[in-house]
Amino acid sequence: MLTARAHDPELMDAADLPPATYAQVLGDLARVNTVTMARPMTLHWLVRATKGLDSFSLIDIGFGHGDMLRAIARWAAGAGKVVALTGYDLNPNSAAVARTASAGLGIDFVTGDARHAPAPDFIISSLVAHHMGDEELVDFIRWMDGTARRGWFINDLHRHWVAHRGYQLLSTVAGWHPIVRHDGALSVRRGFSRGDWGRLLDAAGVRAGVSWHFPFRWGVESVR
Ligand SMILES: C[S@@+](CC[C@H](N)C(=O)[O-])C[C@H]1O[C@@H](n2cnc3c(N)ncnc32)[C@H](O)[C@@H]1O
Repeated sequence: MLTARAHDPELMDAADLPPATYAQVLGDLARVNTVTMARPMTLHWLVRATKGLDSFSLIDIGFGHGDMLRAIARWAAGAGKVVALTGYDLNPNSAAVARTASAGLGIDFVTGDARHAPAPDFIISSLVAHHMGDEELVDFIRWMDGTARRGWFINDLHRHWVAHRGYQLLSTVAGWHPIVRHDGALSVRRGFSRGDWGRLLDAAGVRAGVSWHFPFRWGVESVR
């Protein structure tokens, strides 16, 4: 079971999903991120990676509800760092939702592909790599490695039956939106083993650190 990455499409990626439903899905996804402690591992990496820097620029690929960028903006303000934070998301319905939830934090939310954006110091993504097929992900890793001036970080899921079963139970008890329940469990199946990361990084020709984080996440990182 779960020996290879699943490739079934996620319901939240359907182009005909009504914007109001999509907004509900993103809201619940931000709640999932809180309950499953999704943000601390990226924040801890960023604290290390920005040590000694008074200012930096960062882009978050696939920002969704924008909760990771809000957490970074609040941490940076508390740490006295000047930041230029930009999110890119392919789904045209994400930006309005994230902007409303992030008012006053000075974060720029853009719809579209980040590949034409000016090179930032850091590039991050959370729960986005598993949306990509292997070939697209290899290209993405190469692009991040060639573009980020100071470093990059992928935060994504460990494909493991305990995570799969645990998420099904948690999401049912929590009463999250049916799409979030379906896609979350599928996301674990679309997720990664340690061996997958070795294979994908080799294919990209990129050297990066891979670390496991509780509960059932991978951090894939490079700092210059
Ligand atoms: C599962 S959601 C994760 C959202 C958020 N990062 C989080 O952790 O909750 C995946 C998001 O990535 C976006 N996305 C998927 N592939 C993308 C890509 N290649 N470039 C930019 N955004 C992408 C989707 O539109 C969606 O908003």
